Order: sequence, then C-alpha cells, then structure tokens
Amino acid sequence: MSKSIFTILSAIGEGGFATVYKCKLSDTNTEYAVKVLHSNSSEEDRKRFINEIEYLKILKDHQGIVKLIRECEPNDQQPWYIMELADENLKEYIIKNFSRLKKGDLYEIILDILDAVKFAHDREILHRDISYSNILVFNTATVKKIKVADFGLGKDLNTQSELTRSDERELGQAYFISPEQKVKLKSATIQSDIYSLGKLILFILTQNIFGNHTELESAERYLVGKATQFDPSLRFRSVQEMIDYLEILSRQLTNQCALWDKSLKNVLSTNLISVTDDDFFNFLLQNHSLVNFLDDFLIPFCNLVLNTSYLNTIPSFGRNKIFILISHVDKMFENFSREHNFDFRQIDLITDCYIKILNYTDDSQTKLILLKRLWRFAFFYNRYYTQDLIKLNLNSKNITSEIENDFAFFIEANMNYSGVPVVLNGIRLPPTIENIINKFKALV
Ligand SMILES: Nc1ncnc2c1ncn2[C@@H]1O[C@H](COP(=O)(O)OP(=O)(O)OP(=O)(O)O)[C@@H](O)[C@H]1O
Ligand SMILES: [Mg+2]
Repeated sequence: MSKSIFTILSAIGEGGFATVYKCKLSDTNTEYAVKVLHSNSSEEDRKRFINEIEYLKILKDHQGIVKLIRECEPNDQQPWYIMELADENLKEYIIKNFSRLKKGDLYEIILDILDAVKFAHDREILHRDISYSNILVFNTATVKKIKVADFGLGKDLNTQSELTRSDERELGQAYFISPEQKVKLKSATIQSDIYSLGKLILFILTQNIFGNHTELESAERYLVGKATQFDPSLRFRSVQEMIDYLEILSRQLTNQCALWDKSLKNVLSTNLISVTDDDFFNFLLQNHSLVNFLDDFLIPFCNLVLNTSYLNTIPSFGRNKIFILISHVDKMFENFSREHNFDFRQIDLITDCYIKILNYTDDSQTKLILLKRLWRFAFFYNRYYTQDLIKLNLNSKNITSEIENDFAFFIEANMNYSGVPVVLNGIRLPPTIENIINKFKALV
C-alpha cells in the first residue's frame, strides 16, 4: 500500500471485499475515506475493485455520486482508492433522525438517490449493490447531501460479466438483492437495481429493515410494491418512472399539483399504472387537498380520459370503480362550483369527457351522475354544445330503466333555474321520461 500518500487514522467498517478507513492525505490536512481491498482477495475481486474505480471516474460529474480523490497504481498489490469522507451512512442517518424527519425530507432523500442511480443507468452502468450502507450522508452546518457509493458490483450493461454464482454469496445485504440476482448475479438488469431501490425506499419510509408494506400509505405502497415485484417485467421499467411517480407524491404533499397534468398523463399513457391497480386508484381518491381542483385535477383528468384508449382496453375499469371515481370527482365538482365559474371551453372539455364515459360505462348509477351534470351544463349554464350532445345521447341505452325515475325527478325538480323556467331548446325528452314527469306533475 502506498503509505507515503495517505495515513490511516481509524477503521470505519468492513464489507464484502474491502475495508474502509478514515485517512489523511500526506500533503493535506483534510480527512478522507480510503477503501482498501482485502489482502486475501481473488483475482476476480481485484478486477471488480478496479472496475469500481473506473465507474467512479465515468460518473464523476454527478453530485449525488461519491467523488474519487486518489487511486492506486493499476498494478498495486493491494488496490485502494481515496474518496470523500461521509459523516455516516443512510442506515445510521435514518435510524438516528427518523423521528424528526418529515415526509417531505424523506421524499427528497429518495429523489436524490433515484437521480444518481438514473445517471448511472443512463451511462449503462448498473449499481447491483444498492443498500443502506452504500448510500452516504454528508452533513455540513447548512446542507445535507446524499451520495451513492460502491458501484462495487456495477457492471457495464454491454459487457456481460463472467461472475458466477459462487461469487455473490457474500456480497451486499441479502435483504436488498432482487430474487433473480440472488439466483444468478449475471442476470442482473436495470430491474434488479429497481428492486433494491424499492427495498431501500421501504426502509427509508419505515426506518425498519423488515418494514412492512402495510405500514405505508397506499400511494407509497404502490411505489414500493411495484418496484419489488418478484417478476422483473412487472416492476417499473426505468428509474425515471419512479421519479415521475414520486414527484406526483411530493407535489401532493406541498399542494402544488401542476405536475398532475404532465405526470399523471405520462404515467397513464406509458401504461405505468393502470387505473385498475387498487393502490393507484385509492391514490386518485385521496386528492381532497387540491388547491385548484379545475386546473390540477379535473382538466387533466378529462384530457386523460379523452386522450387514452384505456377506458376501452381495461374492461375492469367499468362498473364499480368508475362509479366510485365519478362520484368522487362529482363531489369535488360540487364544492368547487359553489365558488367558481367555468368558462365555455372548460365546459366543452368536461362535456366530451363525460359523454365518453357515459357511452362507455354500463353502470346505471354512474350514468345518472353524468347525465345530471351534463343536464346542468346544458340548461343552467345554457351551453349549446352540451345541449347538442345531450340530444344525441338521451336514449334508452343511457337512460336505463333503473335510473329513469331518478332522472325524470331531477329534470322535473330543475325546470326552473333561479326562478326562470329552463328553455329546453328543442330537446325532445324520451317518451318514458316525459311520462314520468307528467305523472309527477299530476301528483302536485
Ligand atoms: N466514503 C465513505 N465515508 C464514510 N463511510 C464510508 C465511506 N465509504 C464507505 N463507508 C462505510 O464504511 C463501511 C464499510 O463499507 P464497505 O463498502 O466496505 O461495506 P458495506 O457497504 O457494509 O457492504 P458492501 O460490501 O455491500 O458495500 C460501511 O458502513 C460504509 O457505509
Ligand atoms: Mg459499501
């Protein structure tokens, strides 16, 4: 070891194939960390260790990846490299600070990690050993920085490593390793890192290594659950998808939901999440806290419905769920419309969306909610566009016998708007509705 370059001060810890020490460079007074390969290492380990140094060089431009300071000669008998010295690793940091960390702080930590891993993936480098001891925390008086270290098992996506099963026995913490990587190190892919990230997120959100999904809120459970699916093809396809999803959650926290538009659309159009997934569904239903219901929820929701074909491609979106969703939207609608006005373009967009769902769903109660809302647009807002579409869609397929009475009653009760009789503008009510209304009238 090149003792002339640095002086070891104390040991920090020992891992799968190296030991990390606190050290001082001989020509400066600053403290660093030096990682030294175990002296009894195999040639395989040596190669891996040298690889790690190469990866750190390729990734040096990202502030979320630990910086390489010095390295040994390529043919050094006991290879080492010097990096910045962290105050602690993520395991220690989370356990020590969990009680005072807010949800937003935790999300920020997760986003920092995701961003760094994405940076490596974009350069075709897998981490393959993402765990809480390989995420380092740098605390200064003012800022806290999270950095990813130990691309120790990292492999170039282009050059399949010849590492075999016997090598992975001792490496990494079993808890974080994906099932396929456990079976065969060589078969690690982006999805294996995504699995480890899912486990890491579970730890961060619960501070418990054996953290249970059920301790999480449904939206978070969705994130962790999807990342840690046993079948790699069911996990997120990229770290970017996880970032997109988590950004939605962060916006939710701070009530800035403009991202709904971009991300929700993105999320659904990439089929990342289908509305049939219970957790995502519940997540949609939890949006009571939106600052601007119209811009942040209803308009993106309508665009989503109009721009995707998923209503037709996911049959189970029907019946139960669409009813719950539409009732929920309508409740928010009611609250919002008490204090706000809609402009015509918005009404037309909502009309198109509601007509699409009206003709898609086979659930009568959902149809009733939609019809009532459309009816108000047509005659209370006096919107001709909606009137035209209502005319075309008042048929027995949409006014089923189950809701005939209710809808007729609604029309009858809403024949006046602020004391002014509603003008039906040539709308011919279906005969059954006319009959029922006439019956009501006769009763009065
Ligand atoms: N730059 C650093 N500054 C401070 N502590 C560090 C630094 N690098 C690593 N450590 C800590 O030193 C210890 C040993 O690290 P090492 O990477 O050898 O093993 P490990 O992370 O426990 O397991 P693995 O072999 O899976 O990486 C760990 O607790 C790690 O968090
Ligand atoms: Mg490590």
